[in-house]
Amino acid sequence: MEERMISGEYQLSDQEIDQSLRPERLNQYIGQEKTKRNLSIFIEAAKMRNEPLDHTLLYGPPGLGKTTLASIIANEMEVQFRTTSGPAIERAGDLAAILSSLEPGDVLFIDEIHRLPRSVEEVLYPAMEDFCLDIVVGNGSSARSVRLDLPPFTLVGATTRAGLLSAPLRDRFGVHSRLDFYDTAALCSIVERTAEIFHVAIKKDAAVEVARRSRGTPRIANRLLKRVRDIAQVEGEETISKEMTNKALEMLQVDDKGLDFIDHKLLLGIIDGFNGGPVGLDTIAATIGEESQTIEDVYEPFLLQIGLLQRTPRGRVVTPKAYDHFQREVPGT
Ligand SMILES: Nc1ncnc2c1ncn2[C@@H]1O[C@H](COP(=O)(O)OP(=O)(O)O)[C@@H](O)[C@H]1O
Ligand SMILES: [Mg+2]
Repeated sequence: MEERMISGEYQLSDQEIDQSLRPERLNQYIGQEKTKRNLSIFIEAAKMRNEPLDHTLLYGPPGLGKTTLASIIANEMEVQFRTTSGPAIERAGDLAAILSSLEPGDVLFIDEIHRLPRSVEEVLYPAMEDFCLDIVVGNGSSARSVRLDLPPFTLVGATTRAGLLSAPLRDRFGVHSRLDFYDTAALCSIVERTAEIFHVAIKKDAAVEVARRSRGTPRIANRLLKRVRDIAQVEGEETISKEMTNKALEMLQVDDKGLDFIDHKLLLGIIDGFNGGPVGLDTIAATIGEESQTIEDVYEPFLLQIGLLQRTPRGRVVTPKAYDHFQREVPGT
């Protein structure tokens, strides 16, 4: 399948950019003011008490800076950052091995934590609550449970939606932080920061244009900038202009609102196939050949945010604003 230029999801080609661009400190992390303010207070208080930070849950659509923030927490707490992910931990023993190798105060980051198998999750409960590990030794009638102490640590979990987590797991996080889509001003600062790191010159109005079309998502902003830079370079433009940016984004098939072919397929699918809706998520998924979960976690949040799509009890509805975007007449007007 064609790689989606404007997917917030992590792609292999992002590896290099993501690493080199990750801010290391809270004060370099742009936007998300409420989250930053809260975290900095909690971090300071924990440090004063000489305790690890409370377990922290970060949630929000892909590419908004969850992994980045988790590593910043470790830096600010001046502890080691250990990282793994839900799908990578298959058995309870895998998690037990990770937990027992932690050092006091460490941050253990579990990405996609909603994908932890249930049997693994159960190992996590006593670890989070009492910093201990219940393991079964022996087997058959001689099997018995042994309790091992763990050093105090901070679990930072990331997920695209808090609702995907089981309630008992969710309740064990002391801090819950939702990351929001970034506004154009914040994204513009991110684009300018990235340009500086890449040693590329970009005009202000061009940076704004990249920001405006990045669907509120830093990962997309960085990716678009990288591609615009390539095109400007080939065309021999030294300082990236707004004209070049528009031209490049058109080549990349990113429209004026930052939408691409999948968004078009989704919205036009509802407009043409269901008279604008309401239509159920599963029906949309079947019609456009995508998974319901992906639509809900990855494609839809931004379309809801900018008001092209609405969720109603009877299904998804395309708004007049979406009709307008495609220069279509709203039915019945
Ligand atoms: N607040 C921010 N300020 C600057 N850059 C950011 C910020 N948030 C994210 N980024 C950039 O966006 C990229 C994606 O962020 P990441 O933490 O991997 O997102 P997530 O884990 O939520 O999918 C990172 O490489 C980082 O450089
Ligand atoms: Mg991540």
